[in-house]
Amino acid sequence: MSAVTAGATRARQAPVGGGGFPRLLPPPAPHPPPHAPFTNPSSPGADLRAHLGLHGPVPYRGDAGALIGEVRAAGLTGRGGAAFPVHRKLEAVAAARPGRAVVVGNAAEGEPASHKDEALLFLAPHLVLDGLQLAAEAVGASRAVLYVREDLGARTRLTDYLPERDAYGLDRLPVEIVRAPHRFLAGEESALASRVSGGPAVPQFAPPRVFERGVDGRPTLVQNVETLAHLALIARYGPGWFRSLGTPDEPGTMLCTLRQASGSVDVAEAAIGTPLATLLDLSVKGDGEVGGAVLVGGYHGAWLPAAQAASLTLSNAELRPAGAFAGAGVLAALPADRCGVIESARVARYLALESAGQCGPCRSGLPSIAAAMAELANVGGWGGGRGPHPRVLDDLSRWAGLVEGRGACHHPDGTVRFLRSALGVFGPEIRLHQQGRCSAAAGQPFLPVPAGPVTEADWS
Ligand SMILES: Cc1cc2nc3c(=O)[nH]c(=O)nc-3n(C[C@H](O)[C@H](O)[C@H](O)COP(=O)(O)O)c2cc1C
Ligand code: SF4
Repeated sequence: MSAVTAGATRARQAPVGGGGFPRLLPPPAPHPPPHAPFTNPSSPGADLRAHLGLHGPVPYRGDAGALIGEVRAAGLTGRGGAAFPVHRKLEAVAAARPGRAVVVGNAAEGEPASHKDEALLFLAPHLVLDGLQLAAEAVGASRAVLYVREDLGARTRLTDYLPERDAYGLDRLPVEIVRAPHRFLAGEESALASRVSGGPAVPQFAPPRVFERGVDGRPTLVQNVETLAHLALIARYGPGWFRSLGTPDEPGTMLCTLRQASGSVDVAEAAIGTPLATLLDLSVKGDGEVGGAVLVGGYHGAWLPAAQAASLTLSNAELRPAGAFAGAGVLAALPADRCGVIESARVARYLALESAGQCGPCRSGLPSIAAAMAELANVGGWGGGRGPHPRVLDDLSRWAGLVEGRGACHHPDGTVRFLRSALGVFGPEIRLHQQGRCSAAAGQPFLPVPAGPVTEADWS
């Protein structure tokens, strides 16, 4: 049994927190579906006294920079999607003039299929708040902000926790909570910096990057809230403990949103390197049978054939060669009675509507891609029930090439990755559509897509 499998097994046995497993979330895992909101969290992680009893006080180091070496040794990478090494951002921001830097915890969670930050804020908010303070100390920041998706801000008790923490003298910097609009791009770091500076939450044109000039033109450290929670544990239990789960190259655990073919949605914590087949039920028979494909990494991620997914683990080392990546931990098993082309067309339309419309690729390319995907999905289309126009596939690959790498942010690239994987994995279904047929037995949508369209006012 590998260390990783042992970690996944221990999830069911070990006590909560205190360096046990799960590390961030309380057992039993998986947790109640996030669409049934955690309005009254009874988790020890949400109770300040229980949190302090379990993990002790915030372990400040007393010196800016002192924690950075431990984070480097731990090998912590960002859990917001890109898996960028955290110590490198800490070092870059710490190099700024003392007192200039701003630290922002990113809880925008704009990805509709992800609920892991939502679950974390309900179940372990104090780990996030501890991590925010420790990151602020590490880079010598004078301002700490929590950027929280608007509906989460209203439903979590974050604003109640702050005076409570104050009473215990836990926070060295006051924490401002800034509302993030519920938009796909609102959590992109330059959009975040714009919003926290009082502007709209739309991506800005880089460079400079936010670690150089972000919020109000100041060097800004942006970390996903899960990353901050891991940092708070590394500061307490050390790099060796952190590395005791995961793989040598991708240490630690990560939160995943698991959307099963049966329709259930859970947030679970898994050691990196856990087999995908232990997280998703890829062998369901009867109602909820898996439909041959798994979406990995969310709407900027990629579809994989279910059989291939079943042979892979939750790690970028294995997923990247297959054209996917772990991203923010979204895993969704398409049910057998749904059509992957229709699902992909719905997501493509959503992604096109969510673009900030500032650059050519998004203004014209993404709507064209979405329209072509809609045509592919429409089996009653061209020539009276003869399926999509034969030209559509050529158009799609041409437009994908035209938008890729041409935006100010990665939105067009992520959309193209998703699209190309759909065209590859659902090739047989596309051929069926070209004959005016579809294999789907059920019409109701599977992947969550918020209602649109939206207006400019929705960016603030
Ligand atoms: C289109 C787009 C949307 C993003 N949305 C989020 C988000 O909702 N939450 C988040 O933490 N990071 C999001 N990111 C990543 C952020 O830009 C940034 O890299 C991240 O917050 C850094 O934190 P981490 O290094 O701890 O992951 C997004 C990136 C892109 C390109
Ligand atoms: S690439 Fe698209 S989403 Fe990104 S800034 Fe340009 S218009 Fe906006």
